Amino acid sequence: MGRAAAAMIVPLVLALCTAVAGAAVVEHTFNVGGMNISQLCTESVIYTANKQLPGPTIEANEGDTVVVHVVNDSPYSLSIHWHGIFQLLSGWADGAHLITDCSIQPAANFTYQFNITGQEGTLWWHAHSSLLRATVHGALIIKPRNGTAGYPFPPPYGEIPIILGEWWNKNVNDVETDAHLTGLGPAISDALTINGMPGDQTPCQGAGVYEVEVASNETYLLRIINAAVNVELFFSVSRHPFTVVAIDASYTDPYATDVIAISPGQTVDALVTTSAPPGRYYMAASVFDSKTVSFPFNTGTATGVFRYEGAPNDTAPSMPAMPSHTDVVAAGTFYWSLTGLVRPGDPPVPTAVNHSMLVEFGLEQGPCAPDQTRCQGFALVASMNRNSFQFPKNVSLLKALFDGLPAVYSEDFPVTPPPVPGIRKATSVMKVMYGDVVEVVLQSREYSGVLGTESHPIHLHGFNFFVLAQGLGPFDPTSAPSAYNLVNPQVRNTVAVPGGGWAVIRFTANNPGMWFMHCHLDAHLPLGLAMVFEVLDGPAPNMLPPPPVDYPKCY
Ligand code: C2O
Repeated sequence: MGRAAAAMIVPLVLALCTAVAGAAVVEHTFNVGGMNISQLCTESVIYTANKQLPGPTIEANEGDTVVVHVVNDSPYSLSIHWHGIFQLLSGWADGAHLITDCSIQPAANFTYQFNITGQEGTLWWHAHSSLLRATVHGALIIKPRNGTAGYPFPPPYGEIPIILGEWWNKNVNDVETDAHLTGLGPAISDALTINGMPGDQTPCQGAGVYEVEVASNETYLLRIINAAVNVELFFSVSRHPFTVVAIDASYTDPYATDVIAISPGQTVDALVTTSAPPGRYYMAASVFDSKTVSFPFNTGTATGVFRYEGAPNDTAPSMPAMPSHTDVVAAGTFYWSLTGLVRPGDPPVPTAVNHSMLVEFGLEQGPCAPDQTRCQGFALVASMNRNSFQFPKNVSLLKALFDGLPAVYSEDFPVTPPPVPGIRKATSVMKVMYGDVVEVVLQSREYSGVLGTESHPIHLHGFNFFVLAQGLGPFDPTSAPSAYNLVNPQVRNTVAVPGGGWAVIRFTANNPGMWFMHCHLDAHLPLGLAMVFEVLDGPAPNMLPPPPVDYPKCY
């Protein structure tokens, strides 16, 4: 070896050592069990992790290993999904009930373990079985390997997680059961919440208000998560404009706005500067209702307070101007204006596409099933390319793939909408090879003529995707591609496909496993608005290892 080459190796080895030395194990125990709560002037028992609503925040650095021991002290079986985590070669830990694993039974426990590789920003975790995620959720914050110095913006003075949620004055499992029995979907929620509290604009006197103290003339990073179950939201802080710097744990070009639109599953990282006169300022969240045919929805406003240090508690806060509930322009402007921040070393948008799919989806009226005892005339049903997704019964799809079990699923998910009328109930997956590039035109459709359309947040497990373009109406394959952003598209794990419109996403299937893609409006998941990508093993070492020894059994 020449002297020059030897000299070059030393700094490289040093660099590797520092990187490895920085990787830590972040360990938590989540006891999921009942907790008494007085909320909205109602006493109830809800199920949470460690008796916290929202649940504990997991904080890690890129490169760390996360270990979470989940103890199920609730009467429900449950799994926990690490929303947005790639789960590179750790698909068993994805926590998607019956897709990658089976729920943890009551009185049982399971340890999720995964590495965080190649992603930083705000993600979250939530129960992925039934409506339990209304109360079983929390933030998952990933800092750069070298800490806040690694941010592509000046390190903020402080960071404030803002978890937006939905609250029912009722056991959420009963809400879900009712939704199934009637076939009409869940009852609307009784309140929206900010960090678990509805704020002071509800009819309940003395409802909890989330209040955070801030110093004057500093910059804060808000890590905003939409953990609501069924509603897209607008979010604003009075007299504090935002600079958005990341979405779904992917950095964006800085984007200035007074109002944020955020759909269930999505996150937004936004900087705010506390340069208003010292005082108290409301933050507020309200529903963005995109339905083209109007149905009842939660018209409440959740509030929280930014209180400047020293500001007296009795000053009445000022309210931000919120867009109207139906302001599709405000929502669309936010969703469509964001572009990805391209940094050296970031993977470029792949240009050679192996699978080009057109996936149409929507809701329609179907027959009442025999067990839908309160169904009157019709039950809602949803599909993607006319396949209404059915969960397998006794084994997860990932286990079936790994063990080569026959007849659990079929590999015939259609690449384009089939011409045949009618819906097929099936556990049908789209099979792709390791490393294939997949492009999907997600097209929202109105099938019924009665139900209209609405914006659907489509979430993909296991990968981020580039959002190349979005539009209203039917996708036009001749004109649309010329407008694709192949330079700096936004990168997401959840895209709000406009009602009756479309979004084009592209990703590289570089992670073997079974990856769920579904509407993150929880109401639409049991109706079948879902599909699965089966990604085969690549050449070693890109092969899925065997399941962990304590992998939950299916019953
Ligand atoms: Cu955040 Cu499949 O979910």
